[in-house]
This record gives sequence, C-alpha cells and structure tokens, in this order.
Amino acid sequence: MTAFKPRVFSGVQPTGNLHLGNYLGAVSRWVPLQDQMETIFCVVDLHAITAGFPSSAELQGATREVTAAYIAAGIDPKKSIIFNQSQVREHAELAWIFNCVARMGWLNRMTQFKEKAGKNKENASVGLFAYPNLMAADILAYRATHVPVGDDQKQHLELTRDIATKFNYDFAENIKELGLGVPNPTPSPEVPDEIFFPLTEPMIAGPATRIMSLRDGTKKMSKSDPSDLSRINLTDDADAIAKKVKKAKTDPEPLPSEVDGLKERPEADNLVGIYAALAGQSKEEVLSEFGGQQFSAFKPALSDLAVTKLSPMTDEMRRLTAETSEIDAILQDGAEKASAIAEPVLKDVRRIIGFLEVR
Ligand code: TRP
Repeated sequence: MTAFKPRVFSGVQPTGNLHLGNYLGAVSRWVPLQDQMETIFCVVDLHAITAGFPSSAELQGATREVTAAYIAAGIDPKKSIIFNQSQVREHAELAWIFNCVARMGWLNRMTQFKEKAGKNKENASVGLFAYPNLMAADILAYRATHVPVGDDQKQHLELTRDIATKFNYDFAENIKELGLGVPNPTPSPEVPDEIFFPLTEPMIAGPATRIMSLRDGTKKMSKSDPSDLSRINLTDDADAIAKKVKKAKTDPEPLPSEVDGLKERPEADNLVGIYAALAGQSKEEVLSEFGGQQFSAFKPALSDLAVTKLSPMTDEMRRLTAETSEIDAILQDGAEKASAIAEPVLKDVRRIIGFLEVR
C-alpha cells in the first residue's frame, strides 16, 4: 500500500431513545459523506454493555432501531457498510491488544469515564474504563482516516491517535521488515517513516449543530434525561413533537434580529439552531425571517417544520422495524463486507506483534 485509503468510520450505541440530537448532530451529517469516500457505519453493541447489560430483547430491539434510523436518515446500504459491531470479532480482538498499548494514565484522563462512572468509580465495569480502547479498535481495524463525531468524542479520538502513534512507533522495525508499512504522510524526526495505522482525523460538527435539551438550553439533548419532554425522539409521532415544542422552555423576550442577540439566551439559541438545522439554513437566515416575533409565533412554525422533516423518516423507521428480515439481511451483508476489511488488518497486526500462527 502506498497511501491510506480515505475511509470514514462512525458509530452510534444501541441504547434506546434515539433523538433529534443524534439525527441532526450525527447521522444526517454522514449522508453526504457517502458520495465522497468509502463509509462504514457501525451499531456499537459491544459499547452498549459497558454501563450494564440491558435485557437481550432490549439490546436486539435497540440494535435494529439504530440500523433503521441510519437507513431512514439516508444511509444507503448500497453505498455504505452498515453492521453491528459484535458480528465482527476483530473489534474485540484489537481492543484487547490496545488494552496493552494504552496506558492507565491516558485513560485516567478521560472526562467521559468520570462523568459516566460518577461518584462510585469502584463499581464501574472495567469495560466502561476501557471503552475508549474499543472505540480506537473500531476505527483502526479498518485503518479509517476520518471519523465524524461530536465535540464530546474529541478526547476519545485523540486517544485513538495516541494509540496509533505508540503502536506505529513501538513496532516500527517489524512493520518495516514485514513490508506492511505505509509511507508516513506527515513525516517528522520523531516518528517512523513507515507506519501501519493512520492518525485518524476528526470531522467535528460545529457548535451550531449541538442540539440542547428542550427543558434546559445549557444541557445537551440526551437519551438519559429523566424528562421525556427534554428531547424529540425519532419514534415520536406528530402530536408528541408538537406538544414538546409547545412546552419547550423559552424566555419572555421576542426573538432578536441578529445572531448576537442569542448570546446569554440558551433556550432561544437552541430553538433557532434546531429550526436552522432542520431547514438547512443559517441562524442568520432564520432570524431574518423571525426576528422581532414572539415564541407564540415561532413555536408553531418550528413544530410544523419538525413534523414535515421528521415524519417521513419516523414513518420509514416504523416500517423497517415492524418486521426484522429486511434489517437483519442488511446487517448480515454489512458484517460480511466489514469482516473482509478487518480480517486482513488483524492478520497483519498478529504478524507485527509476533503471535505464532500454527494453522
Ligand atoms: N463513543 C461514540 C459515542 O458515544 C460511539 C462510538 C463507538 C464511535 N465507536 C466509535 C464513534 C467509533 C465514532 C467512531 O458517540
């Protein structure tokens, strides 16, 4: 290989309650990438057991639901590889190897672990602690060059680069001797001139697409928020969407005419941002239409737009999840295609490390 093949990898956990934030902040942004390079989209079920095992029925249902959301949002199984992580054994195998590459100190700095483990760190699973190593394995089992993620995953992507760098460095001699290296695209005196894993680039969605809670404009829209009114779920029907928009927290002022006027107004900023993202407009454009108007006028417009944009997708999700055969066939095909890439990568990794091959 003379250069890394441009390749996108991303994933969503099947933990239930997919919402507008997942759609606008992640999946909808993946759609255009399918025409630019090779794209692999994973339903990360191995990650979904790090914070406790859901029931098997819940896990299966959520795995199919995320798959349905991908497809309903416009991820095309003819253009992209769509599969669930546990079906490709190489993820778990590479994650173990990365457990032995990454350092305790690196993982101890991960802010998401601190948030998720909360006060009772001693009772968190080892898997939750090692979560970022599995994420690095997801990406590097395909030697993916680009990963679209939200702000909150930036630190994990940096860790992925650290793991790749250490592996490339520690095994530089073997990589070269076995002829498995790729010329380092960013050579410098400290790093080897031939590397095995790429230093994956994040494709971070701008802050404009951070979708916040409908009840508190300073908190991210989240599946774990106890209030269902805080989020628009991708399974909500038109009535539920309208009700949630109506009840969304606001402030007493009319909408400003300039984006500057949204500062210090987190709820107004969020609703304008959601409108802009759904309409494919900038916040400026939204405010040029609605500036000076009360929320009593803006909210019905937002609610109509949300229903118009989301219902074709939620209808399609309902159709796809009504029976399992279509989704399962897509996942099976995806798992085969994903394995065809990851298996040879792991074969090389085993040779580089020196695992004896006796068969
Ligand atoms: N940790 C990611 C999240 O919670 C999900 C994920 C797992 C992922 N593996 C990945 C995202 C690989 C991008 C690439 O959003």
